[in-house]
Amino acid sequence: MKVLVIGSGGREHALVWKLRQSAAVEKVYCAPGNAGIAADAECVAIGVDELEKLADFAQDRQIDLVVVGPEAPLCAGAADVIRARGIAVFGPGAAAAKLEGSKEFAKEFMRKYGIPTARGEAFTAEVPALAYIASEFARGAKGIVVKADGLAAGKGVLVAEDRRSAEEFTHECFSGAFGAAGAKVVIEELLTGEETSVLALTDGKTIVRLASSQDHKRVFDGDKGPNTGGMGAYSPAPVVTCEVEKRIDEEILKPFLRGLAAEKLDYRGVLFAGLMIENGIPKVLEFNVRFGDPEVQPVLRRLEGDLGEILLRTARGELAGTPIAWSDEPCVSVVMASGGYPGKYAKGFPIEGLEAAAREGAVVFHAGTAFKDGRIVNSGGRVLGVSARGADIKTAIANAYRAVDKITFEGGFCRRDIGAKALKHGGK
Ligand code: AMP
Ligand code: GLY
Repeated sequence: MKVLVIGSGGREHALVWKLRQSAAVEKVYCAPGNAGIAADAECVAIGVDELEKLADFAQDRQIDLVVVGPEAPLCAGAADVIRARGIAVFGPGAAAAKLEGSKEFAKEFMRKYGIPTARGEAFTAEVPALAYIASEFARGAKGIVVKADGLAAGKGVLVAEDRRSAEEFTHECFSGAFGAAGAKVVIEELLTGEETSVLALTDGKTIVRLASSQDHKRVFDGDKGPNTGGMGAYSPAPVVTCEVEKRIDEEILKPFLRGLAAEKLDYRGVLFAGLMIENGIPKVLEFNVRFGDPEVQPVLRRLEGDLGEILLRTARGELAGTPIAWSDEPCVSVVMASGGYPGKYAKGFPIEGLEAAAREGAVVFHAGTAFKDGRIVNSGGRVLGVSARGADIKTAIANAYRAVDKITFEGGFCRRDIGAKALKHGGK
């Protein structure tokens, strides 16, 4: 089959890399792709927001399966537009993508179908929102979380430890800092525990949990500094024990599937639930309607199965019975970022050592890279995801950092403690 992957990040590189190994896949295109993806797929210069052009391309080239990577085109209706041309699409339609596109919609869905989550309320005006924050602190809350309702490129959430910063952020939202995404604000209880990411494939009839993984959201070692898109991930996540898996299946995934059916939401793709786990009890922080990045990198490196078949069967509503197996070897993926990320960063610097890293046995996924004068340069905040497997998590960590240490570009940096949390749990 011929596959078109939409997107240009580390997630899409990991998808393209795995699809290329699929016996069922004869050709992979990526729109628009990046400098690393260009080695594994034919890149096509169409933006992720050019929905009709993407659909035209898919039709002209007789694409059998379109895989939509990021949330923005899904929320804009990419899956609906391309499906309308009779092409199989992996990715939910716009109505279901609202589970990521509107935090209020997601919260209401969770409430309606009994999915455990933080207590919270939605507001469309500043005064009642501020009154709610005041009443929560008056009740003795140790903190509070303020979220712009809509998509805000990962910047629309503040985990506030004091009332003042919660109020300021609420004011920013209602003052238009996030445009329409902040016209509504969800304020919720601060959950404590350990965060983990659950990815599950669903075709609306069946839901299949994938291998567990954990991201590192903060920019600096020891979970310090501001939140980012993710600085590194590993799979499996030892915090997700068999008991926790059972709870996730029974308390989150099954009710999620019931909700999809009851609401008649067309969901053929992946659910990525961000969870907080405390004392073995999982609660949902957020739903996303796409693969987590970098989580998908170590997860796909452990997948033993034909990704082309798996995604096509999901897109066609034939997921039940599809074989999906995992390597026992853990995998760690370390993100290398541009100096200054997640704030302003400089780009256009040549990246050295990519081949040396590959010789160390790592697979280097490209996120923000481009070609300049025939060389590969950094072009985004997150630049590379350096992934390595090992007999145990400790070895995987050592293998990943050995490869990371071969790569340099001006200003480039990474966290040095990716995977350390897994060791703390006694992960092997
Ligand atoms: P979200 O986009 O809703 O996942 O929020 C981004 C990040 O904020 C999450 O990955 C968590 O680290 C944090 N977060 C969100 N909601 C909560 C909550 N209720 N309690 C504690 N942390 C949260
Ligand atoms: N790594 C978190 C995300 O993809 O949103």
